[in-house]
Amino acid sequence: MSIVPQRATAEWQEIDRRHYIHPYTDSKSLGEQGTRVITRAEGVHLWDSDGKRYIDGMSGLWCCNLGYGRRDLVEAACEQMRELPYYNSFFKTAHPPAIELAGLLAEVTPAQFKHVFYTGSGSEANDTVIRLVRRYWDIVGQPNRRIIVSRENAYHGSTIAAASLGGQWPVHEQGHLPIPNIVHVGAPYWYGCGGDLTPDAFGIEAARELETKILALGPENVAAFIGEPVQGAGGMIIPPATYWPEINRICERYGVLLIADEVICGFGRTGRWFGSERFGIKADLMSFAKGVTSGYLPLGGVMVGDRVAGPLIEQGGEFYHGFTYSGHPAACALAVANINAMRREGIVDRVHDELGPYLQRRWQEFATHPLVGEVRGVGLLAGIELTRNKATREFFEPIGDVGTVCRDFCFQNGLVMRAVRDTMIIAPPLVSTIADIDEMWILARKSLDMTAAQLGIAA
Ligand SMILES: Cc1ncc(COP(=O)(O)O)c(C=O)c1O
Repeated sequence: MSIVPQRATAEWQEIDRRHYIHPYTDSKSLGEQGTRVITRAEGVHLWDSDGKRYIDGMSGLWCCNLGYGRRDLVEAACEQMRELPYYNSFFKTAHPPAIELAGLLAEVTPAQFKHVFYTGSGSEANDTVIRLVRRYWDIVGQPNRRIIVSRENAYHGSTIAAASLGGQWPVHEQGHLPIPNIVHVGAPYWYGCGGDLTPDAFGIEAARELETKILALGPENVAAFIGEPVQGAGGMIIPPATYWPEINRICERYGVLLIADEVICGFGRTGRWFGSERFGIKADLMSFAKGVTSGYLPLGGVMVGDRVAGPLIEQGGEFYHGFTYSGHPAACALAVANINAMRREGIVDRVHDELGPYLQRRWQEFATHPLVGEVRGVGLLAGIELTRNKATREFFEPIGDVGTVCRDFCFQNGLVMRAVRDTMIIAPPLVSTIADIDEMWILARKSLDMTAAQLGIAA
């Protein structure tokens, strides 16, 4: 029995309007429209307070990888709450779930990762990355290496430091960011920036922007480069095959630490445990969150590779950093259950062998739609870039309006997809069935057709 009372939709909306400031939301306009109130979920489906059903093509916010309503995950957290609902890992203590999860994470991450630092979210993980990077360079005697290079369109979170790492200019403008010592280079966004180059040639060119930047700043001042294997919230930007190998080469050549933000790509999303494996990224640090608990409880962290962990641990001396909820026992117990279930049920192999290829094949069918400029994806991530002109890859003006129209039609039709600018994004739960993907396809097609009709384009 829920401790939250049942209310009519209008009543929820009224309380929401009066008291609740939502993340990344224009509160005035939401107040005028009324919030959509989601009341329950099961498998890959959500229901709102009016009883309308949606198929969740976004896994919540790229996180509910094992879908909703998993009793095994819920039980793991409840059991831990009964046993030890909270304790910290400061002051020479720890507890079994945090220790057990650390061991499991070392097993499922690439070989160079044997240590983890826990946080409560992806944003905190990326803040922690900055602290670890600075600590590392201090310890190894190169304290001038302070600058972290990130990319346009990057999304690394919403704290002051994580938003500074992000490459979204309106965020910087509103927040008076970035903080010092964070600079940006272009994204490997062939569709938007590649011009007449082939994707492979553009991949090399985009990576070399990092080299040019390092040389301009002086390699002795550059601490690290951070990137998501695939830029998710930046518009589903899948780098050309040439990009990451060239980034590996550049980071190695100048001794720059390479950080993979695996908050979206981690835990099976790309058909490998980590996006770094899918793209061959030789990361020194890896931030994660979301899929580690399938979103059931908040948990994040940083996998610390041997290059950084070695000096950090051998040198000794306190690392002045940590959170009250670093390694929360219930979240860690749930993560252990989540990872064990992923292994037992062969989730990553299934995404790799069956579901990912099926989603990509079906989604490519949209490429011939008159509104669609490009379909791109990997594993269970896909984006449909909408265009005014297929031949010239022309964007709509103002950018984002058409995507919002299509997104609203998706909701109206019972499908959750997200629009980033004018790219329609799908990232379904890793436990979706072929029939679920088919249902998403039909609803996506209907929404694209309705968008085209609204624009007066024959579909
Ligand atoms: C790649 C990436 N990094 C970091 C974050 C921030 O994570 P959180 O919202 O848990 O702070 C996100 C959130 O979407 C993300 O997509």
